[in-house]
Amino acid sequence: MSIRIEAVTHVYLPGTPQQVTALDDVSLEIADGEFLGLIGPTGSGKSTLVQTLNGLLRPTRGRILVDGQDIWERHADRRKVRQRVGLIFQYPEHQLFEETVFADVAFGPRNLGLGDDEVRARVTEALRLVGLEDPDLLRRSPFSLSGGQMRRVAIAGVLAMRPQVLVLDEPAAGLDPAGRREILGQIRSLHRRGLTVVLVSHNMEDIGALAQRVVVLHQGRVVAEGTPEAIFGRRQMLLEIGLGVPPVVDLLQRLAEAGCPVNAGCFAVEGARDEILRWKLGTGPARRAAGDRVAGPRAGSGPARPACRAGRGRGRGH
Ligand SMILES: Nc1ncnc2c1ncn2[C@@H]1O[C@H](COP(=O)(O)OP(=O)(O)OP(=O)(O)O)[C@@H](O)[C@H]1O
Ligand SMILES: [Mg+2]
Repeated sequence: MSIRIEAVTHVYLPGTPQQVTALDDVSLEIADGEFLGLIGPTGSGKSTLVQTLNGLLRPTRGRILVDGQDIWERHADRRKVRQRVGLIFQYPEHQLFEETVFADVAFGPRNLGLGDDEVRARVTEALRLVGLEDPDLLRRSPFSLSGGQMRRVAIAGVLAMRPQVLVLDEPAAGLDPAGRREILGQIRSLHRRGLTVVLVSHNMEDIGALAQRVVVLHQGRVVAEGTPEAIFGRRQMLLEIGLGVPPVVDLLQRLAEAGCPVNAGCFAVEGARDEILRWKLGTGPARRAAGDRVAGPRAGSGPARPACRAGRGRGRGH
């Protein structure tokens, strides 16, 4: 399922002294099955943008087209859009409210008017998708779970609606490293199962490890768009708007700037280690790259070389 954002502007509190233009003429396309990373400094409009995707917020100007249909057209079925485009807010566990995990995950499907058997099947499926398979869990209060588990229950509540697009606003915020790895691993496997994913994150490593394409927002406008390699290759631009690059990329870029023949397009520690080893030991692609003079501060903006791709795939963080 594709989503097209056409010249969307969103103004909060229009006509008041507190008026804020949170989105300013944003156009963007999200392709079916893609994993899009959305980054930008605080207040750049990320949360506003994702809330327009499923019709939770109505843009002041512009259109949101889901599978070609304007979701704000008079006859559009926005309820169906919300079902197909699942939105997971920052700290979704704050929205858990039922007495048991089962009741919480079942809330959405019940509201769809589904029968008991179908509701139960969807709850089981959704919890399995987020790696919570223990049947005893169903009877527990969601509030007795760990932070990471609570968040997965909240995500299961959205998955139980069987969305085609999953939009997550800072899903790993506030979790410890293990919780973060778990959540991000689940998101990665949901994408592999065919879901379209839009991930908002301040964490550049997570974006580098997961996203196929990255969109950068700044002051409500799209200021850059491209592969993680291309975006992280623009370190100066990112620094100017208050962002940065993953530490591993930063190190490789600095080495490349100092004349070391390394490919600065690696995001994972393993890929960077291999790259540095190849350079130091004088073996493999890094040495060939030196001869070809392809390495440099912007080397990462080209296609990632196999060593780095392999590094990405084995990223320890996820
Ligand atoms: N409900 C609201 N009422 C008024 N202004 C708002 C509201 N929500 C957001 N804003 C303003 O709109 C702008 C964009 O906010 P938004 O929350 O979309 O940014 P963000 O990129 O998600 O930031 P963060 O990284 O801090 O989550 C900010 O200036 C913010 O103060
Ligand atoms: Mg936000």
